[in-house]
Amino acid sequence: MRTQVGIVGAGPAGLLLSHLLAQRGISSVVLEKHSRSHVESRVRAGVLEQGTVDTLVAAGAGERLLREGLVHHGIELRYGGAGHRIAFEKLVPGRAITVYGQQEVVKDLIALDPSRVRFEVSGVAVHSLEDSPSITFDGGRVDCDFIAGCDGFHGVTRPSVPEGVLTTFERDYPFSWLGILARVPPSAEELIYAATPRGFALHSMRSPTISRFYLQVSSTDSMQAWPADRIWSELRARLETVPGFSLETGEIIESGITPMRSFVTEPMQYGKLFLAGDAAHIVPPTGAKGLNLAVADVRVLTAALDRFYGEGSSDALDAYSDGCLQRVWRAQHFSWWMTTLLHTFDTDDPYAQRLQTSYLDYVTSSEAAATTLAENYVGLPYGWGVQ
Ligand code: FAD
Ligand code: DHB
Repeated sequence: MRTQVGIVGAGPAGLLLSHLLAQRGISSVVLEKHSRSHVESRVRAGVLEQGTVDTLVAAGAGERLLREGLVHHGIELRYGGAGHRIAFEKLVPGRAITVYGQQEVVKDLIALDPSRVRFEVSGVAVHSLEDSPSITFDGGRVDCDFIAGCDGFHGVTRPSVPEGVLTTFERDYPFSWLGILARVPPSAEELIYAATPRGFALHSMRSPTISRFYLQVSSTDSMQAWPADRIWSELRARLETVPGFSLETGEIIESGITPMRSFVTEPMQYGKLFLAGDAAHIVPPTGAKGLNLAVADVRVLTAALDRFYGEGSSDALDAYSDGCLQRVWRAQHFSWWMTTLLHTFDTDDPYAQRLQTSYLDYVTSSEAAATTLAENYVGLPYGWGVQ
């Protein structure tokens, strides 16, 4: 098989890239190791920045998103027995987020043109990254001009770069997030980020009948330690901390535990290989940035490939990594900051706890501090940064 861009991974990054390229007359093939039903049912992110929504709409994948996505103009920070609203409409006028499940984004992108994606492909390996790249897999081979490594944090493309080329930066956190999807109406209209001495909890949603929750748990915990009764009683203990708030409970449809990690590789390219999304960087989910960063990378890569095929210039491809990393590092900082602000650390001494409360008080009482949170949360404009 021959194509212009060989894409490894049918997550949001790989699928979106394939569509944006097709719109510009550039051919691609997406190779995915899992089945279509597996990738369509993987419950993960839920918060889309305005730029992400606009990009999906421009890719032709916005019809259901615009109909079913829940537009939110604020979030609540809950701690110390009170809730504090971060009001986007006041702090960052005209900017908002949309709550819409990542697996719905994936379904919408696949439905646009399933023929470009090959599911259940095993044994993927990438070759000759310096000059004439190819991708082999069990039973086939794709020759291409470029390879996009969109295969997530545990993929094969990043480890294929020769040793010594990439520098990695990382931080592990001593806790994980236990996430559930439940068949219960949301207990509040907006997302609630709750910091408590028992640990962090997050109230989110997917629709008027489906809620999404996260709990900070120990990084050594498994789901066996968390039967449904324990999950609900812990969510109650961490969220029912303000007068008049009571949590709706019900059937848990899906659950899982995700470790918390920060990771960046530099540069995000080697020869004809370009890494995008989680293959190049991951953030702890507290800032809701991972999926949005993947979309931002893909926009930069699409423009660079378009320039190459349209004008024959590889300048923009050469600048791909630098073009992405400023946004990546801003999201790294924001995600680390939100995580530090809202979680309980075993190592916290009373001094560290007072610092955390002091910062929460500052963010919820100073317009300048609240604006810092709001503008990062809704997403900085594309092209933002030091030029
Ligand atoms: P992935 O979605 O990981 O896709 C990679 C694809 O490559 C997968 O389909 C995988 O099967 C495939 N693949 C891997 N290896 C191979 C191989 N060898 N051969 C072929 N295919 C391969 N982000 C946000 O923006 N907002 C949020 O609210 C948010 N919340 C989150 C909550 C949780 C619990 C988690 C876990 C993540 C959250 N994220 C959030 C992060 C977000 O889900 C990821 O950043 C996003 O999935 C990245 O997309 P991607 O396409 O780069 O990678
Ligand atoms: C969701 C996930 C997040 O990581 C977050 O910060 C907010 C909401 C969600 O899945 O709804």
